[in-house]
Parts: sequence; structure tokens; C-alpha cells
Amino acid sequence: MAKIYVLHENAAWLPPLRQALTALGLPHEEWFLNQGTVDLAAMPPDGVFYNRMSASSFTRGHVHAPELTAGVLAWLQAHGRRVVNDGRALELEVSKVRQYAALSAHGIRTPRTIAAVGRDAVIGAAQGFGPGPMILKPNRGGKGHDVRLFDDAEALVGHVRSDAYEPPVDGVALVQEYIQAPAPFITRAEFVGGRFLYAVRVDTSLGFELCPADACAVDGGPPVPKFTIVDAIDPDLRADYERFLAANGIEVAGIEFIVDRGGAIFTYDINTNTNYNPDAESRAGRSGMGALARFLGDELARLEEIRAAV
Ligand SMILES: Nc1ncnc2c1ncn2[C@@H]1O[C@H](COP(=O)(O)OP(=O)(O)O)[C@@H](O)[C@H]1O
Ligand SMILES: [Mg+2]
Repeated sequence: MAKIYVLHENAAWLPPLRQALTALGLPHEEWFLNQGTVDLAAMPPDGVFYNRMSASSFTRGHVHAPELTAGVLAWLQAHGRRVVNDGRALELEVSKVRQYAALSAHGIRTPRTIAAVGRDAVIGAAQGFGPGPMILKPNRGGKGHDVRLFDDAEALVGHVRSDAYEPPVDGVALVQEYIQAPAPFITRAEFVGGRFLYAVRVDTSLGFELCPADACAVDGGPPVPKFTIVDAIDPDLRADYERFLAANGIEVAGIEFIVDRGGAIFTYDINTNTNYNPDAESRAGRSGMGALARFLGDELARLEEIRAAV
């Protein structure tokens, strides 16, 4: 029997999806991918394969989980299996450089960014960047891991020269223009089945670690809601995002953007393993995981129709 297979490396993020799939009576199985084998001569099972691999896997000790997943996805796709968030989506998940290149190719504005490999190259990139505040972040990141704001190039260089500097896990560091928003929030637009679902406004006054999952919540957090659902984003931006996702094998994603003082929109992060904030959802009466489970269920039903017709 065909099933929904959930490919992941963090069980702590799975209960909401598991519950939503179970509530709809959908057969599903979880594939935890950290270490393992891919037998290219074997036949994959039948089903819909939903890839939730996360760029931040290395922060949980799962350094090569994305590489294993890339192998599994290549194998599944070679056998014509239905993959939601395919190998191309994974390529973008683990590389902001690829994200920005692909976004720019679709006419979507990103912050000015220089990628640098090696300490000296990071220093050179910062020194040539120009005046004003700048961000240093890893190419393969997630959950705000090691995203730092510096007042100027000198401060950034001081950090990179210090013992506190940790080279990024894939060796690629990004020196990036700091986008100053008039109010401290960013927006994250959620997409399911390649279509806009809703957006969340995220309060950034407390820092850059903005993981929306309950599993990421810290005790003693702020009393005000950090996440607030808004029903719409700029319609042109929405259309650009939907075109971009369709062209890059991404069907489920949260895309983050900041609006600067002049009203210009900058897109800077694509999360293909998106989580939803339960408090914000209950206040707004929405359910991202419900929408996702329905979408996966529809894809499974479509597969079964095709199988029945041949
Ligand atoms: N260029 C930028 N200008 C202003 N704020 C930024 C910029 N880049 C990142 N941030 C802040 O840091 C947070 C984490 O950065 P992000 O690029 O989303 O990394 P991650 O993949 O770890 O989530 C963002 O949500 C935003 O609040
Ligand atoms: Mg982010």
C-alpha cells in the first residue's frame, strides 16, 4: 500500500505533523535520516515522499544528514517517485548563496551579500563592503545559528580574528548588508502545495533566533506574542514567490523578508522544513500542519488514482 513518507532528522519537530496526518487517517511512516545506506539497486516503496531535511541538522550533531538525504532523494527521483520538496529544494535549503542566486534570477530582491571561504577572504569581504552595520552569517544555517550584527567592518573583522570565531560548517561565510526595518519585525510567508497559506510577523526585538516550533520555545520568554499571523502579503511578492517555488521544486516553505525604511522588500531566508507557531495559529484559528496534511493526503489520493488507472 502506498504511504506518506516523512524524511527528517529531528523527531522533536514531528508531533504536530504526525497528529495532523493521523487525524485525517492517512497512512504514514517516518524516515529518520542521519547515518545510513542508500542501495541504488533497490526498489523504493510506493508513496509520497515529503522531505523535511533541515539546514540546521549540524546543530543537533547530524552533520551529514543533508548529504544522506540528497542521496535518498536522487534514488527516489530516479525511480520516478513523487517527492515533495525535491533534491533541488534541498540544495537551496542548505545554501543561502544558492537561495539568493535563484531568488535574483526571479527578480526577487535580496540583501547585498558576499560569500567568502577562508578567514582572510571573510576579512577582505568585510573591509571592501563599505560603511555602516553589516551581518555575518553562515551559508548553511538555520534557527538564527551564529547570525551576528556588527556596527561596522572593523567590528566584524575583530570578531573573525578572535578565538570566538567559528568557521561555518560548510566553510562558506556570508557578509551581508544589514536591512534596517522601521519597526523590529520580519515577516515569514508560509506556502503549502506551492500556494500562499498565511504570513507570520515575527518580533525581532529579542534577537535573531526565530524558530517558530514549540520545541524551540524557551522558558521565561516574553509575555507578548512573538508571532502574529497576518492573512495577506503584497500580491506581486506573493506571485513572485509562487513562481520561484514552482521553478525550484519547493512545495512547502516559509520565506522570510524584511521591509526597510523606504518600503523596499528584501528576501533573505527560505526554510523548506517549515514549522508553525501553535499559539499564533490558535489565536488566528489557522492550522499549517492541517493544511500540509490535507495537501499530502491529496497527493497520495492522486497517486492511488494513477495506480488504479494502469
Ligand atoms: N540582512 C539582514 N538584515 C537584518 N536582519 C537580518 C538580516 N539577516 C538576518 N537577519 C535577522 O536574523 C534572523 C536570522 O537570519 P536568517 O538569515 O533567517 O538565518 P537562519 O537561516 O538561521 O534563520 C532573521 O530572521 C532576521 O531577524
Ligand atoms: Mg531565518
